[in-house]
Amino acid sequence: MAGTNTGPTAVGNSATIGSQLFSPPPMSRPLTLLCSLTLLSAVALRADDTIKIGEYASLTGKEAAYGETSHKGIALAFEELNAKGGVLGQKLELITEDNQSKQGESSTVVKKLLSRDKVVAILGEVASIRSLEAAPVIQNAKVPMVSSASVNSKVTEVGDYIFRVCFVDAFEGNVLAVFAKDHLKVRKVAILTSVSNAYSVGMTRVFKERFLADGGTVAAEPKYSEGDKDFRAQLTAVKAAGADAIFASGYYTEAALICKQARQLGLNVPIFGGDGWDAPPLLEIGGAAMEGTFLCAHYSPDNPSAEVQNFNQRYQARWGSMPDAWAALGYDSALVLADAIKRAGVADPKKIRDALAVTKGFPAVTGQITMDAHRNPTKSAVILTIKDGQYKFVQTVAP
Ligand code: PHE
Repeated sequence: MAGTNTGPTAVGNSATIGSQLFSPPPMSRPLTLLCSLTLLSAVALRADDTIKIGEYASLTGKEAAYGETSHKGIALAFEELNAKGGVLGQKLELITEDNQSKQGESSTVVKKLLSRDKVVAILGEVASIRSLEAAPVIQNAKVPMVSSASVNSKVTEVGDYIFRVCFVDAFEGNVLAVFAKDHLKVRKVAILTSVSNAYSVGMTRVFKERFLADGGTVAAEPKYSEGDKDFRAQLTAVKAAGADAIFASGYYTEAALICKQARQLGLNVPIFGGDGWDAPPLLEIGGAAMEGTFLCAHYSPDNPSAEVQNFNQRYQARWGSMPDAWAALGYDSALVLADAIKRAGVADPKKIRDALAVTKGFPAVTGQITMDAHRNPTKSAVILTIKDGQYKFVQTVAP
């Protein structure tokens, strides 16, 4: 059992705890309980010679697709760092909590990480909606948080302890607006927004601003909410408005259904989305309707760069599958944090925060990371298309 393994402690325990979460859970509640008990016993058995780092992630539930891969990326980074002796002569210990993709759970689980485990830093989340929920709690505790993939501008605006290793929506929305105009050559776009999702609302706002500024028009702006399944009324309005393209700015589950129903209604115009489209269920749910659609993403495993190819190999050797963007960004979030702890010279939350703030030219898998004054890095994006049921690299867009 993981908790009784005292081998090269933190590595063995963390990895085993993590991988237990990947077997399909019969129910998510007992799994969480099992996980917490295992974690508690693991903690109880260990002397205070590790640097404790928390992680909150959607390991089960609606958004488990990226919670799992992001966790695998983070776990790989911890294993590699600990195999090289850890940081400041201490092993890094990863304490992972599952928020079950549920609203309200992220703030609850980070409170546990802060008060029960006394972690010195926290990694998470992929989804902006959950980073926005947990960040105020973490900021209040004056512990640094590094989000792997939350692009919504407001995430790091929560306070000076909140960082991210991905680009922000202001950049991504601009990339998509320029792509729509110059590459798709469309002028009259319909935008579908999930009003209950801050990520989608933010993406719509920045895209629209740039698209209008460049002389485009918005044909229709129908709204929906997370969990909706029937988009025919919205798409009928889009058709009536004569849009020459559709921007679906939300997450993959709804976006895939939008594409499917658009094609069923005979709407054959180009459809595109943001990085919230980048998860395998998009392809499974949308099926043939996804062919020829486009998305903006953080990472493509097809990228021939040595860093990316090397990471692909190590990740594949560890987990038996190719990494996706969430795995690569999770890995990078852990490495950037470890680098800051090293430079801080001591595992103290305030000192780690100060070191994170001056991160400069860090060679991450997803590109060099330099934190700006607002704790956001400036990085390139990639455009992907979907061909033969798979994501395919189209181009890189530099800032
Ligand atoms: N970048 C998205 C966000 O900020 C995260 C995401 C990734 C959401 C993949 C859905 C699917 O919320």
